[in-house]
Amino acid sequence: MQENNYILAIESSCDDTAAAVIHNSKICSNVVATQKIHEAYGGVVPELASRAHQQNIVPVIHQALQEANIDKKQLAAIAFTRGPGLMGSLLVGTSFAKSLALGLNIPLIEVNHMQAHILAHFIDDGTSEKPNFPFLALTISGGHTQIVKVTSHFNMEIIGETLDDAVGEAFDKSAKILGLPYPGGPLIDKYAQNGDPKRFPFTKPKVGPMDFSFSGLKTAVLYFIQREVKANPDFIAQNLDDICASLQYTIVSYLMDKIKNAVKHTGIKEIAIGGGVSANSGIRKALQEAENKFGWKTHIPKLEYCTDNAAMIAIVGELKYKQKQFSTFDVSANARMKF
Ligand code: KG4
Ligand code: ZN
Repeated sequence: MQENNYILAIESSCDDTAAAVIHNSKICSNVVATQKIHEAYGGVVPELASRAHQQNIVPVIHQALQEANIDKKQLAAIAFTRGPGLMGSLLVGTSFAKSLALGLNIPLIEVNHMQAHILAHFIDDGTSEKPNFPFLALTISGGHTQIVKVTSHFNMEIIGETLDDAVGEAFDKSAKILGLPYPGGPLIDKYAQNGDPKRFPFTKPKVGPMDFSFSGLKTAVLYFIQREVKANPDFIAQNLDDICASLQYTIVSYLMDKIKNAVKHTGIKEIAIGGGVSANSGIRKALQEAENKFGWKTHIPKLEYCTDNAAMIAIVGELKYKQKQFSTFDVSANARMKF
C-alpha cells in the first residue's frame, strides 16, 4: 500500500455502530457506539437497532476520521460489513459505504462479519503474535458459535456450529432468568468469581462432537430456578455467586470439550478465539491452562477486537485491497451471508 492509503471500515451488523481507519495493518482509530436502547427490552430489537444506526453512523465515521487525523480525501477504499446480521442494520452500513465510495470515487470492499472476527487476529497491535496457518478459530458471541478450520486468510471451513442459540445468548438468557439486566454475560462472569462452580450441576447438551446446542441449557436453568424459588423465594439472592459459577463452569467446559474434539479431528493445535464471549474469564483461563496441559498454542485478541468492532472489518478490507478484491456498486446486504 502506498504511504497515504488509508481504509475506512464500517460495521453495523447488529447493535453496535462502528467505524475504524487502518493503515499498514495498524489501527489508527476504532470507534464504537453501543446502542443502550436495547437494555430495557432484554435483547436487541431489530427495528430500534436500524433506527439507532441511522442516527449514529455519521458522527461515528466523523470521529473515526478525526481520531485517525486524516481527511476523507486520503482514503483509498471503503470496507463494510455485508453480512451476516440483522437486515435492517446491515442496510444502513451498506448504503452508507456505497454512497461514500461512489462520492469519493474509490473502491468498495464487502466483508463477511464472521470472517472478520477470525481475521481480527491479523491486526498489528505491536504485541500479540499472529496465528500460523492452519489454525482453528472458535467464534463465540451473542450471535454466533462456530469452530472454523482456517487454512489461509480467505480459506475457511466451518467444522462445527450451534444448532440453536449462540453461547452469548445462553449467558444472556440465563442471566435474564436470574433477574440480571441485558447483556448478562459479563455479570454472570463477575458473580462467578466468588462462587462454587460445582455446587449446582447442569447437564451438557448432547449433539455432534464439534456442534453445540444451548437451548436445552436455558430451559434447564429456567426449570431449576422456578423449582428452587418456589421452595425459597430468596433462593436467587442467597445463591447468586454459586449459580453463576456453576453455569459458567458448565458452559466453559462444554466449549473446551468441543475444541478438544476439533483438535483431535483435525490434528491442529493452534487455536484462536474471537467474539464477545472471548472476554469471559473462564474461557480465557481454560485456554491458557490448555497451552501447558495439551501443548496447544492459543491466541486471545485484545478485548476491543473481540466484541463487535470495525477494526476487524478494516483488517479484512486491507487484505482484500491488496488482492484487489473489490465489490461492484450493485452489491446488497446479505443477512445470511456465508464464507
Ligand atoms: O461479539 P459481541 O459484542 O456481539 C455479538 O453478539 O455479535 O458479543 C456480545 C455477547 C453478549 O452475549 C455478551 O453477554 C457476551 O458477548 N459477553 C460475555 C462476556 N462479555 C461479553 N459473556 C460471558 N462473559 C463475559 N465476560
Ligand atoms: Zn459479531
